Amino acid sequence: MTRRLLEALQRRPVDRTPVWMMRQAGRYLPEYRDLRSRHSFQEAVSTPEVAAEITLQPIRRFALDGAVIFADIMTPLEAMGVAMSFDPGPKLRPHTLREVIGLSDLDPEKVRFVGETIRRVRAEVDDEVAVIGFAGAPITLLAYLVEGGGSKEFMELRSGVAADPAAARDALDSLGRAMHSYLTVQTDAGADLVQLFDTWAGLFDRTTYAELCLPAARTALAGLDVPSIYFAPAAGHTLDLQPAIGAAGYGVDWRVPIDEAWNRLGDVAIQGNVDPAILRTDVDTIQRHVSDVLDRVGDRPGHIMNLGHGIDRHTPVEHVAAFVEAVRG
Ligand code: CP3
Repeated sequence: MTRRLLEALQRRPVDRTPVWMMRQAGRYLPEYRDLRSRHSFQEAVSTPEVAAEITLQPIRRFALDGAVIFADIMTPLEAMGVAMSFDPGPKLRPHTLREVIGLSDLDPEKVRFVGETIRRVRAEVDDEVAVIGFAGAPITLLAYLVEGGGSKEFMELRSGVAADPAAARDALDSLGRAMHSYLTVQTDAGADLVQLFDTWAGLFDRTTYAELCLPAARTALAGLDVPSIYFAPAAGHTLDLQPAIGAAGYGVDWRVPIDEAWNRLGDVAIQGNVDPAILRTDVDTIQRHVSDVLDRVGDRPGHIMNLGHGIDRHTPVEHVAAFVEAVRG
């Protein structure tokens, strides 16, 4: 038995390019919207039966090589005493760096539901399908904690980090250790690989990235039993630095062509990088963009096909099928 996605992540040759999509379980699927009409987002995440069902929805429809567990990057923070709601993004009280440093450690007992979801998904999917766990990277979690939710410019975060880098380092280090525990719960439950989402790392200059964001991401991933993928969108200016994180593979968005991104990253596996907007166009355009990525990769082992960011909620379901079929050939 081989899991193509795991083989490619370790840069071993595979019979065809493995494919999955970030946010593959979500609002573009009518069956997801139907389940969500009966459960709040947090209730769905923390109820293994429901979370496993949502994880499996895209697997039933499309011939995907990976099943990414339904949860959110903010989920483990709730287990560290942070109260929040989702509307649809996370909303919480803005935290100071000191308050983040003072958060309680992650109690694995409080995130047992994630392990249970993983066990249920593993029992349901074909052997060939890789089960993908995930966490948010420390600077991305800090971004939501400091701002109290999403933001256009993340001014509080950027000015707070610049004003007190020592406190930022401590806050990031403690989030890195907490995410390491959270990822360990997932690997102990049977996740085949994990992805670290670093959505907001690209906001920072190279020096701040190298000195603060990167070491904390490395702490989250160091010493896990399974290979990992690190993904920072809009962070092309940091690609040459990223491999010091120690992940096996790196996700890249659509802003840099995949062959050029791979040259900047060096000897690692790569994931991406079709623009999610392409999935809203038409089947011909989708096929053309998939072929372009595959042509740029050529016969180099170590490529996992994905979008350059999460799938957009207005994506027609038939276009997702066309994307997956275009990769499988
Ligand atoms: O990829 C998957 O299918 C697994 C589940 C998953 C979700 N969020 C479910 C979700 C994953 C991996 C995430 C990661 C996540 N969450 C990130 C990193 C990736 C990225 O998009 O950059 C971030 C920044 C968040 C924070 C977050 N959670 C936002 C900004 C939102 C708002 C709306 C949106 O869809 O972007 C959420 C809510 C959320 N998380 C939804 C889902 C399916 C929508 C919930 C709903 O209204 O039903």
